[in-house]
Amino acid sequence: MKITGKELRQKWLDFYKSKGHVDIGAVSLVGDGSTGVMFNVAGMQPLMPYLLGAPHPAGKRLCNVQGCMRTVDIDSVGDASHFTFFEMMGNWSLGDYFKKEKTAWTFEILTKVFGLDKDKLCATVFEGNESAPRDEETAGLLIGLGILPEHIYYLPKEDNWWELEGTEGTPCGPDNEWFYPLDPDGKDPVFPDDYVEIGNDVYMQYKKLGTGYVPLENKNVDTGFGFDRMLLFLNGLHDAYQTDLFTAVIAEIERETGKKYDDGGEVRRAMRIIADHTRTTVMLIGDPTGVLPSNTGAGYILRRIMRRAIRYCRQLDVSTELLLHVAKIYIEQVYDEAYPLLRQKEDFILDEIKKEAERFETTLVTGMKEFEKCVAGLERKNEFMKKSDPGHVPETVIGGKAAFRLYDTYGFPLELTEELAAERGLTVDKGGFEEAFKEHQEKSRVIQKGEAKGGLESHSEMAVKYHTATHLLNAALKTVLSPDCNQKGSNITDERMRFDFNFDRAMTPEEIRAVEDLVNEKIREDLPVIYKEMSLEEARKEHFVGVFDSKYGEVVKTYSIGEFSKEMCGGPHVGHTGVLGHFKIQKEQSSSAGVRRIKAVLEP
Ligand code: ALA
Repeated sequence: MKITGKELRQKWLDFYKSKGHVDIGAVSLVGDGSTGVMFNVAGMQPLMPYLLGAPHPAGKRLCNVQGCMRTVDIDSVGDASHFTFFEMMGNWSLGDYFKKEKTAWTFEILTKVFGLDKDKLCATVFEGNESAPRDEETAGLLIGLGILPEHIYYLPKEDNWWELEGTEGTPCGPDNEWFYPLDPDGKDPVFPDDYVEIGNDVYMQYKKLGTGYVPLENKNVDTGFGFDRMLLFLNGLHDAYQTDLFTAVIAEIERETGKKYDDGGEVRRAMRIIADHTRTTVMLIGDPTGVLPSNTGAGYILRRIMRRAIRYCRQLDVSTELLLHVAKIYIEQVYDEAYPLLRQKEDFILDEIKKEAERFETTLVTGMKEFEKCVAGLERKNEFMKKSDPGHVPETVIGGKAAFRLYDTYGFPLELTEELAAERGLTVDKGGFEEAFKEHQEKSRVIQKGEAKGGLESHSEMAVKYHTATHLLNAALKTVLSPDCNQKGSNITDERMRFDFNFDRAMTPEEIRAVEDLVNEKIREDLPVIYKEMSLEEARKEHFVGVFDSKYGEVVKTYSIGEFSKEMCGGPHVGHTGVLGHFKIQKEQSSSAGVRRIKAVLEP
């Protein structure tokens, strides 16, 4: 290794500190909401107000190495260069120095500190349009520093103008990009194919409005050099996963899977995905804002990333314990100095990874079966159609309702279903998915308001929760007291539940506690509640318990809660146990001979 990650970080900061900059450190990865961009996609994003003119408490010359995320690239992760998380080495002038100093310092750090050959450097500058002039000033300064005039290219707005996509009221401007040959010892490289962009200096002196651009009072500089890419490049490597940010991680993955990174193909791709996604997971959960996997916003992106990593563990035939070991390497060895918060939150981060893996694994296998069924259904249909019409064009779209079921019942993020579909040459009806999603939301709203009559909708949300809690309690009593305990009746209001079961003595306080703990554990595990219709025979065979056997017809409705509870029942139930709150037994008493009665509540 010519230069390590830790050395590169230090060199960048030391250089700019020597030019009067203050290291402001990295801030949260999550956007502050002011721009509508969910994550920081560039180091300048948290500095927006200061680039627009507000005074920064640390002064006018700043530098740092800032974590960024670009989730548009998530599907490309697995190749040699794409990441979801990366860092940007930055420095800024807030209305202080401008082009003369900036060109000189970038030139100096590249040629003196990093040892690049000035005769091989290439630069691009803005060719000009109605918003801003052709940047002859920068080109002249570069030539003055020693860049060969034939190595300077004027390019249009698509290439040499930097702004935050999809935003308004944000600072922006023309930029000067820096390039170096991919193979520095190669002969006569051709621009741009044989070059790699190593970073850029943005002359941020405009504000983007809906209608165009207006000059800012301050002439700012916004520099961004990709840390991970620079590290790769300075070490003469072509695979970003071979830098010292990843070598220990890849070695660990090889050790635990018994497979070799150099085998290439799908194995290497899976290893890279696990390495990248675990790093992003660590950074998000360990972020000052503490993102947790969920079904909305940043939490959903995190869940997608985590579940994708879990799926690739399965592909490599290795336990998800691997993710914990990989996370530990990032926390303890790779990012221990730059992100001390990770170390402080280590147990929390590892625990969250473990919990999400457990949550997803309980449904992954059944969900995969469900997915296979969808594919088989499509294939059957296509075969059938082909028989009657040989010219039939095969259907290749998985229905939106099916995709929603995979999402709602098995926790498959839509993107996961799309990815699985793509592996089979299929696509997913996204519009249909959105529709099913909306329909479901509407239904939940109706249930919450208690407006609709009949069927599922007539139950209040609280009563539905209590109903699911009776199933958990039933299973817990069988586990703690005796498998012979059976439900003898129940009564539910919005405020509490009553549950009768056969048992021939009073429960001890320890038993009551153990039952409560077990129910609460299953709530915390956020187990999915899965509905299925089957024949009575099948239900018996699969050990579903029936409370009042004689009432059931030939086809029965069943609900299972993870592997913990299996009951024949008409419903309705909650979708996941996590929403139940805290389960507490208030009273345990005799109901009649050989029958005990439990009164319990769900607390928020
Ligand atoms: N804001 C510039 C970038 O992201 C420096 O590349």
